[in-house]
Amino acid sequence: MTHATPSSKTLRAIRGSFLDFTDDPFYVPESESVRYVADGLLVLEDGKVKDFGDYNTLQPKYTDLEITSYPGRLIVPGFIDTHIHFPQTEMIAAYGEQLLEWLSQYTFPTEGKFKDKDYAQKVASFFLDELLKNGTTTALVFAAVFPQSADAFFEEAYRRNLRMIAGKVMMDRNAPDFLMDTADSSYHDSKALIEKWHKKGRLLYAVTPRFAVTSTDAQLQMAGKLLQEFPDVYLHTHLSENVDEVELVAKLFPDSNGYLDVYDQAGLVGKRSVFAHGVQLTDAEFERLSETGAAIAFCPTSNLFLGSGLFKLTKAKSDQYPVHIGLGTDIGAGTSFSLLVTAHVAYKVVQLQRQRLSPFRAMFLATLGGARALYLDDILGNFEPGKEADFVVLDAQATPLMAFRNPRSVATSLEELADQVFSLIVMGDDRAVHATYIMGELAYTKEGDR
Ligand code: GUN
Ligand code: ZN
Repeated sequence: MTHATPSSKTLRAIRGSFLDFTDDPFYVPESESVRYVADGLLVLEDGKVKDFGDYNTLQPKYTDLEITSYPGRLIVPGFIDTHIHFPQTEMIAAYGEQLLEWLSQYTFPTEGKFKDKDYAQKVASFFLDELLKNGTTTALVFAAVFPQSADAFFEEAYRRNLRMIAGKVMMDRNAPDFLMDTADSSYHDSKALIEKWHKKGRLLYAVTPRFAVTSTDAQLQMAGKLLQEFPDVYLHTHLSENVDEVELVAKLFPDSNGYLDVYDQAGLVGKRSVFAHGVQLTDAEFERLSETGAAIAFCPTSNLFLGSGLFKLTKAKSDQYPVHIGLGTDIGAGTSFSLLVTAHVAYKVVQLQRQRLSPFRAMFLATLGGARALYLDDILGNFEPGKEADFVVLDAQATPLMAFRNPRSVATSLEELADQVFSLIVMGDDRAVHATYIMGELAYTKEGDR
């Protein structure tokens, strides 16, 4: 029996098979960027990783360890969703339209409901439970135009101690009256929200003009002013998703040199700027994104659902103009909360362009790649000591079919692991998420699992 004393406090640890990334497998060979510990130990202290490595090597270093074991399960860093709308949770699967009509027919009426703070709170709570159920521990989130919708989201995320980034939408034209703010009110409301929530607990703020279609130049300038006044907040918007949208933006901003340039002229393109979609980007725009350190959220289920097109992932991750890329579910134009499903559809989008997305590269995008896109890789994204201990316990045998496909639960080589990870991506969804941990604490376990 062990007794915790002030000098020897009991540490908690997790034992299982671990996969994470120490570098970007798009640029560094997988043999050097993929880290697999078949029988590993993750030692936790105050919500952070204290130590990580092979069980047999590490275990003797610690006399007092309370170990939770996950035999036969694969533990990966928490998934990172780099683009999602919490108010659109209830409108997944809205039939028949492409972007601009989809927005006016379905999205705007739905977002109108988020004027009611109690309603926003209920949806935010459901939404965050759904993220955890899918193994998503960090997300970059659109609220609605109403500041109270952002308050509701932040309150719920704060209660759960989650590393979340969110912002109130700014939109002052081309939308119904009940959804519009003004350049001035959006500035003041966003500023008040930044002062209230940015860096409170694990929360961060994103200045969130919806897209160039629904903001006047005056409003985009106000967004730029906020970024100057608060240099470590994020900029989160949509970019070059759909052909009609790109044409409309060219008409609305006749003096711009393309869609990205509209944001650039307002000072909105830089590190911690995250642009969703980028399906219609030109080569010059990829180059500009690369040189500024901005990121694209690749949202494959949404891009197919709205018929927007095939994102050029291989170009975005080229050696010549490397762009930070994360995966986004883009709920409610996206069709699944699961980043496993999102990675699966990303694989197919790349296939349709006669290219490949390897299982490890896909898993990188869902974890450390997302952390790098959000410039959070100094505090999360893999199992390096000192990082925040948000992680997911996956089950490659979650369904009878997956168990039949994966008779061996623990991979004994990188090749076997790549195959197992690929099957998790192609066949997995929330059913393959056995448990989710937040800051070293169990935050979700699948019902019925052992
Ligand atoms: N462009 C502007 N607003 C939206 C939105 O809510 N969803 C998507 N997918 N694209 C947008
Ligand atoms: Zn979106």
